[in-house]
Amino acid sequence: MLEDTKKRAAGSRTTTLKAVPFFSQLDDKELEAVRALAAEKHYPKNAVVLTEGEIGDSLYMIQSGKVKVFIGDENGREIILKILGPGAFFGEMSMIDKQPRSASVRTIEASTFLVLTHNAFERCIEQAPRMATVVMRCLAERVREADRKIGTLALMDVYGRVASTLLELAVYSDGKLMVGEKLSQQDLANMVGASREMVNRILKDLTDRGFISIESKEITIVNRELPPSL
Ligand code: CMP
Repeated sequence: MLEDTKKRAAGSRTTTLKAVPFFSQLDDKELEAVRALAAEKHYPKNAVVLTEGEIGDSLYMIQSGKVKVFIGDENGREIILKILGPGAFFGEMSMIDKQPRSASVRTIEASTFLVLTHNAFERCIEQAPRMATVVMRCLAERVREADRKIGTLALMDVYGRVASTLLELAVYSDGKLMVGEKLSQQDLANMVGASREMVNRILKDLTDRGFISIESKEITIVNRELPPSL
């Protein structure tokens, strides 16, 4: 019975690793080596996992749950950089360069992570050197995404930022284009750098004009040609 439970847990860890781009190209033997080096950690909803500016050297892979990555100021204002779910990872920057954490990470659902320290990661790379190429590709993708975001923040007004953020978050579900995250208007405001009141007005306008519909916090994109401004 205990053996079965252990096997199931090991199986779900392997599934997690396979979904993480760093490890998706490894064969079963290499995955087994990584799994043996990774520790499983559980966090309740709303728990701080990483704090911006703190020293840390571990990589976190999301097995289940969801987190938000954000930067904040001393007045409690925050900008959400990204919401991440199963298969995604975070903490790779400090794991690689051992500099302080570039952002904070907090759970928005109870979450389970596989955690790999810098030393363990180096051992993984020794065992599977092609992983280094994948790491570089992932970092390049993150810089590209950050560039796109800087462009959006600098060149669009709030209306356009809300529209492009909704499209960025939207995924098809049952034939409908839906914003997968149940975001509060404050979350959305924190993603686009605007006030909650402003976001509320824009969502109402987009609803009135038939571009989106909102039901119990779930936003459906009715017409994906969202206008970039009023
Ligand atoms: P690290 O700096 O170790 O700790 C905070 C983590 O947040 C960072 O690694 C990345 O994993 C993640 N992070 C930082 N900036 C972004 C971003 N713009 N988009 C997605 N994730 C990010």
